[in-house]
Amino acid sequence: MSTLQNIRWHAGHVSRQAREAQNGHRSFVLWFTGLSGAGKSTLAHRVEELLFRDGCRTYVLDGDNVRHGLCRDLGFSAVDRQENIRRIGEMSKLMADAGLIVITAFISPFRRDRDGIRSLLPAGEFIEVHCDAPLEVCEQRDVKGLYHKARQGAIPEFTGISSPYEAPLAPEIVVHTGRDTLDDCAWQVVRYLAARQLITLSNKEPHA
Ligand code: ADX
Repeated sequence: MSTLQNIRWHAGHVSRQAREAQNGHRSFVLWFTGLSGAGKSTLAHRVEELLFRDGCRTYVLDGDNVRHGLCRDLGFSAVDRQENIRRIGEMSKLMADAGLIVITAFISPFRRDRDGIRSLLPAGEFIEVHCDAPLEVCEQRDVKGLYHKARQGAIPEFTGISSPYEAPLAPEIVVHTGRDTLDDCAWQVVRYLAARQLITLSNKEPHA
């Protein structure tokens, strides 16, 4: 028997559209994906800063942070990563429904899991951003020293070394985080959102 059998969805009196109107911007999920060390978190926080400064209601969900709480019971096997991304997807959906611009920074290595979240959300409200930095660059940066440990065999199933990363086939945005500056990448994302009228920019790009 399904556990959902005796549970009903309860719709509230405040619609998502009403929340969006009050906030003055659309709500959506900006999903950063890429290798460890590709700069997802740094970029996610920079984009958040630009949007927040402009009056948007935002929140960043970050891999390392979420794994300290909501997903602390999960490891890095394919099954655990799938569950990690499923929970974040559901959480993002709720937060977007609350009127927020949800910005996520997870490796989210599997295409099927990311596509699953896309299908959870209304069309056009899952914006996939591929932080495309070559493995060699991420490994050379090795900000957390994890690639070194993974090469020594001390971390099993490490993405890019001993566990696969499936790059998106048709992401909304590709940022070259191994080549371009943080601000160039951040503004590329913000310009995309403004061009699609998901946000209205009042603060202009410094060098535009
Ligand atoms: S995901 O694959 O499930 O999306 P997530 O983004 O939550 O991963 O966590 C990735 C972070 O966990 C990395 O940035 C890194 O700091 C750390 N980490 C620890 N072990 C691994 C591993 N085996 N593979 C990748 N990242 C790992």
